[in-house]
Order: sequence, then structure tokens, then C-alpha cells
Amino acid sequence: MNEQVRALFPGASERTYLNIAAKGLIPHHVRDVVHAYLDDQVGGTSDKDVLREQVDQTRAMLASMIGAEADEVAITKNVSEGLNLFAASLEWRAGDNVVICPELEHPNNIYLWFNLARRYGVHVRSVEPVDGMMPTEGMVAAIDDRTRIVTFPTISFAPGFLTDIEPIVRAARAAGAWTLADGAQSIGSLETDVHALGIDALAVATQKCLLSLYGFGFLYVRREVAEQLVPIHVARYGIALDAHETAYSDGPLEYASGARRFDLGNYNYLGMSATKAALELVSDVGVDRIEKHVRGLAADLANGLMDLGMPVVGGRPGVHLAHIVSSGHLGSGRHYSADDPEVNALHRHLVDAGIVFSLRSGVLRFSFGLYNDTSDVEHVLSSVRAFQEKGAVRS
Ligand SMILES: Cc1ncc(COP(=O)(O)O)c(C=O)c1O
Repeated sequence: MNEQVRALFPGASERTYLNIAAKGLIPHHVRDVVHAYLDDQVGGTSDKDVLREQVDQTRAMLASMIGAEADEVAITKNVSEGLNLFAASLEWRAGDNVVICPELEHPNNIYLWFNLARRYGVHVRSVEPVDGMMPTEGMVAAIDDRTRIVTFPTISFAPGFLTDIEPIVRAARAAGAWTLADGAQSIGSLETDVHALGIDALAVATQKCLLSLYGFGFLYVRREVAEQLVPIHVARYGIALDAHETAYSDGPLEYASGARRFDLGNYNYLGMSATKAALELVSDVGVDRIEKHVRGLAADLANGLMDLGMPVVGGRPGVHLAHIVSSGHLGSGRHYSADDPEVNALHRHLVDAGIVFSLRSGVLRFSFGLYNDTSDVEHVLSSVRAFQEKGAVRS
């Protein structure tokens, strides 16, 4: 990645920003697009037909980024909405089950399943992780002929490892179950081809690796699957009617094709404008290049921390490592502090050194975006070294 790309993100030089797993920095041209959108609202010059066209262009860009067709993508506001729209549109029967590894899931992909358990008597089959990694074998073993959905993150929110998706998809397919992935942490940073992977649905939001704002997201649903689904929430944009948006036909109810049936009312046009501009940058740079860059930086940091004797979850870089490096003792709580006072002290020290990152599930979580470079890795390592030297003097 070159300096010109980094220069597009003022935040990247103002501080050591290693927190894309919580929120990505936005480039300054995205801020300009947001301002222009607001200027149109203030001045009364906004044109909704143009905005709706741009929504469809954005939908097509998102689809192409994941190897899907445009009408396999519904526009949503966040990951939770996508997951819930999909889950709610199945006809559940008591005794059906969902296979999940809750410990590796963000809560937004846990509660909905327990809600289905309460409403329909669905069984939530929880599988334990193995050393912070998605338990592929355990997930496969938990699938049976009553499994309707197998769900997993493409990359966990903590410790941030890649899921080995293919064996899970194969087993789910063989059992007639659908796979639903939470792509919050990977889309925009990791090359993804949903058709090649064979996943049935994928929910994404744009505030992380898609370098945009909160409140805009999408739900991919494989066409054959989407055509079988009956949406619970329906509004004009989810209906197949080639007429003005205010048109109503009292003929038979016909859903829009594919995942478009999940589109509801007016869109978050502000979020769309920002996302469209950010996607242009991501696709100009290329997700393949971004992936190589961020995984390289993550590997450097993981190695550097281990060389300093720090605990790195998952150990030396391997296929599990994406753009997120977690240091500390995993699982010491879901809260935003660690059980180990040394980890909390190091956290404070690094924050004071101007490093922006997160504390999740007891570990220090550093996450890289296209705007980071080796100086960011060096800053973390030299700050950790200084912390260790301070401790040595104290003891
Ligand atoms: C894996 C994962 N899923 C979901 C979310 C957030 O869900 P939502 O977009 O619904 O707020 C996050 C982080 O914010 C996440 O890391």
C-alpha cells in the first residue's frame, strides 16, 4: 500500500489507529460527499430519483465485491437487521435447530436465536470454540436433519480469527440446512466469493472495513434461497411492481426478485452516499491488495509481540490470522476490561501512547486497515517495550 492511500485518511497520521474491527476510519473524500449530501438537504436541491439510482449502483458494487448478482443483495441498516430479516423469514417448527458457536459470536448474532427458541421452540445447539478458533469439526458434528441454519462469523469479533467455512457449508448442504454468515469483520478487507464458498446468506454493515458510516449495510441471499423465503416485514421496495414508488396494486402480492424482497421503505441515503464513495476507493485499490497488506501487518505485529514474550492468541501467524491480532488471555470475560491487571495496565499505557485499539473478551485487540503501515506496528512494539522496561525498573 502506498503513502498516497494513507494520506487519504487524516486520522491515520493523527494517531496510531488500529481499531478497524470496531470502526474503520473514513477517507476525507467520503466526508466531502457527506457534506455535499447535507448541503443538498439544506438547500432543497436533493433529487430522490437520483438517490434511488445511486442506491442501486451501490447495491451492484456491493454485490460485485462479494461475487454476487445485484438482486441477491438487500439494503439494510446493519448486521443485526440482515440476520434477523433472514432468520424471521423461515417457517420454523418446534424441534428445529440452529448450530452456532456463541462464544465467538458478537451478541447481535446470538440473541435472535434464543428469541426463536422462545417463540417457536427452536433448539440452539451451542458448540464450544477450540483455542479461540471456530470449531469446524464440532460444528459439523452438531448438524443433523433438524438443523435449519448453521451460523458463523467469517472472522470472529474476538479474537478475530478466520472461519474455515467450506467444511461447514458442505455439511450443512448435505443435511439440507442453510448457512448464514456474519461478515461484519471481513468484507472490504478479505477477498470473498459467496458463490464459490456456497454460503446461503451473509449480513454486513459498512462502518468497519467498508470505511463508511454506521446505519448502512446489506444482506446477501443466494437467489435460489431468497426465492423460497417469505419476508415478515414488507414495504413498497420489496414488491415487484414496475411503477412509481407510491403506486399500489391490489393484484396478487408479488415479492421483488431475490433478496430485494427484504428492502423496506426509504433508504439511509446519507449512509448510501458515503458507502458508494468509500467503495469506489476500495475497488480502485483492490480487495486482494488490501487483504495482502493488512494480513502482512497483522503477521508482523503478532511476531513482534511474541518476540517480546507477549501472549498472542493463536500463537505465530498461520492461516487463522486475518487483520486482527489479539494479545492477552482470551475468555476472561466479555466485558471491556481484562481480568489480568497487567493487561489492563498495558492497555492504559498504550492508550496514553496515542494508540487506538480495543479491549474485547479479555484481550487487547489490534486491527489493521488499508491506511496502516509498518510505522504503526513499530509504534505498538516500541510502546510495549517501554512498558516492559518500566515494569522491570519497578520490580
Ligand atoms: C462480528 C460482528 N457482528 C456484528 C457487529 C455489529 O452488529 P450491527 O452491525 O448489527 O451493529 C459487530 C461489531 O460491531 C461485529 O464485530
